[in-house]
Amino acid sequence: MKLDGRVAGITGGGAGFGRAMAQAFSRNGADVAICDLNLDDAEETARMVAANGRRALARKLDVTDTPRLQSFIDEIVSEFGKIDIWVGNAGMVGVMLAEDDDEGFSRQLLDLNLRAVFLGAQAAGRHMLRQGSGSIINIASMYGTRASAGRVAYCTAKAGVIMLSQVLAVEWGARGVRVNSIGPGYSDTQLFRKGRSAHSPGVDELLERVPMERFVTVDEVAAAATFLASDDASFVNGHCLLVDGGWSPRGA
Ligand SMILES: NC(=O)c1ccc[n+]([C@@H]2O[C@H](COP(=O)([O-])OP(=O)(O)OC[C@H]3O[C@@H](n4cnc5c(N)ncnc54)[C@H](O)[C@@H]3O)[C@@H](O)[C@H]2O)c1
Repeated sequence: MKLDGRVAGITGGGAGFGRAMAQAFSRNGADVAICDLNLDDAEETARMVAANGRRALARKLDVTDTPRLQSFIDEIVSEFGKIDIWVGNAGMVGVMLAEDDDEGFSRQLLDLNLRAVFLGAQAAGRHMLRQGSGSIINIASMYGTRASAGRVAYCTAKAGVIMLSQVLAVEWGARGVRVNSIGPGYSDTQLFRKGRSAHSPGVDELLERVPMERFVTVDEVAAAATFLASDDASFVNGHCLLVDGGWSPRGA
């Protein structure tokens, strides 16, 4: 199997892409630690990992609580002996026009979608650099590659996730640690549903912008993450793997 004997940590592993990645990694032979705001959901994911015959650890954690995020990563290493794969996945979506006076909200969004992703990668990276190996995958978005009205904080944070992953890739590549990001397209998860408002375009309108005329499934994103985590991607470093059905390269 692609990830035999590997140890993975995933933020926001209680639902959506995070849960699908935990399932895919464990099906491919990895032990998986999950943290989430919602402990019941994290524990349900842990049961799915255990059902695949792998060890699991579930913790309730807000990733913006930096000391606790760092302790979670340390706990993974003390429980499992190492950390091979780290996924910075937890995020939120929000609509805000650039002229809106909404400082608090945008700061909250940047703290979660950007700062916590960096600090998680940094904490996992320190262990990986000592080990001389590791794969870090940060979940960005297709919105990190294209400007979208009403998403100043979200697009900025996700573009930052792509760039911070590239900078870490450049700094750490020679020391055996690869860092990549994934840019998913629209996926019908809790986050997608919560991020919609009365002003959001209808689903049919969204689909018109996707050349493949459908949303991405959580399993398709998990398959991309499994590839980046595995030795199949041994020379893939600093890449943003778009899994958006062709939304990003599309012109008018
Ligand atoms: N769904 C989409 O259309 C889409 C598209 C592109 C990118 N993304 C990105 O994918 C990532 C995962 O999104 P999803 O669609 O799977 O969402 P989701 O809502 O289905 O799952 C996210 C999980 O993260 C947890 N979480 C949220 N805030 C947290 C925090 N502060 N600390 C710990 N856990 C927290 C939630 O409880 C939830 O279990 C996000 O970074 C999102 O921006 C999603």
